Amino acid sequence: MFQLPDLPYGYNAFPETIDPLTMEIHYTKHHQGYTDKLNAALKEANISGKTIEEILSMENLPDAIRNNGGGYFNHSLYWDILTPGGTMSNSFKTKIIEDFGSEEAFMNEFSEAGAKHFGSGWAWLVQDNDKKLHIFSTPNQDNPLMKVAEMSGTPILGIDVWEHAYYLKYQNKRTEYLKKIFKIINWKKVEARMI
Ligand SMILES: [Fe+2]
Repeated sequence: MFQLPDLPYGYNAFPETIDPLTMEIHYTKHHQGYTDKLNAALKEANISGKTIEEILSMENLPDAIRNNGGGYFNHSLYWDILTPGGTMSNSFKTKIIEDFGSEEAFMNEFSEAGAKHFGSGWAWLVQDNDKKLHIFSTPNQDNPLMKVAEMSGTPILGIDVWEHAYYLKYQNKRTEYLKKIFKIINWKKVEARMI
């Protein structure tokens, strides 16, 4: 059985970026819902004793596990990599410059991946097996651990671009949400996820 992970902060942790009502609904309704439905789908499929990463990287995932397992994993990562006023270490900055040319180019490419993604989905920073970083987006609750993803790898940063993540505060202005959320990324945790 998977449990909803504790939020590492309160609903009012970043009122300038994520309003408390959005965070509360997102966590207690959406994330909890994915968790409950994942557990039900795993029971139905007789799957137990595996980590969420092992489950999501299986071949031919049933839709209920793909959608709800993705929702469970993606939101767990999202809450974990936010913090008030995060800054990049010099070593991570160097890695970003090496793979994207500059910090600004990286931010622009990531924002564009999120802003241009059609419909619901996620924008990702992913590390491949050669340790190079890449940016891309996935539809719905898919993620880079899944065989169906356009590119597989280790997800080290994931930003939710479903409307439920931002609509109350930003309405249709997804780009504004993406710009603001970059100010509350816990870059130390992102860096620690690198392989
Ligand atoms: Fe979400």
